[in-house]
Amino acid sequence: MRIDIITVVPGLLEGPFSHSILKRAEDKGLAEVKLHNLRDYSTDKHKQIDDYAFGGGAGMVMMIGPIARCIDALKSERDYDEVIYMTPDGETFDQGMANSLSLKGNLIILCGHYKGVDERVRQKYITKEISIGDFVLSGGELAAAVVTDAVIRLIPGVLNDETSALTDSFQDGLLAPPVFTRPAVYEGMKVPDILLSGHNGKIDEWRFEESVRRTRERRPDLLKGRDF
Ligand code: ADE
Repeated sequence: MRIDIITVVPGLLEGPFSHSILKRAEDKGLAEVKLHNLRDYSTDKHKQIDDYAFGGGAGMVMMIGPIARCIDALKSERDYDEVIYMTPDGETFDQGMANSLSLKGNLIILCGHYKGVDERVRQKYITKEISIGDFVLSGGELAAAVVTDAVIRLIPGVLNDETSALTDSFQDGLLAPPVFTRPAVYEGMKVPDILLSGHNGKIDEWRFEESVRRTRERRPDLLKGRDF
């Protein structure tokens, strides 16, 4: 999978993708993330990519011209399954959406800024609009990093057994159970006996019960329509 991210601040995204799991995915040839500076697609001598909103009001609007040239250039080189726009008024991102995006081919992600993009960009190019939550970031970059991380780690072969996505919170619709490591006793606080028992079947049962208990306590909304 190749993910092309279009941004006015590529510097914000240079860090996250050169580390840990994402770096490993790139090294294994399973995923590739490319950043594109929108200003490179401006034809203006000041590299302008935004302008005042028609009708007045505070805030600038990202122009269609540079975005169109960038997306058209990418599309002339390869096929894309989705052209995603990061925006607080998009569909809320969740594990289900991460799963389905991880099965796609190539993706373009456009990061919004200022008051957003000219509506005609959305009409002509965007196939999916994603929000990472009901709050407003100063740009779509950090949201794009969140989506890219959540998607790439689900691509088959990216994670090994120890980091397997199958036991993540949300992967089965439940929160993950508590985990412990050495020492078995810390300042009188003991690890549950069952985890030291060596009975794998009983340990799995305990973990499942703890998952359900934790989900019931913290996120009862996730259990609606399910019977435990
Ligand atoms: N851009 C600004 N805020 C955002 C959010 N919550 N999700 C996605 N993109 C955004």
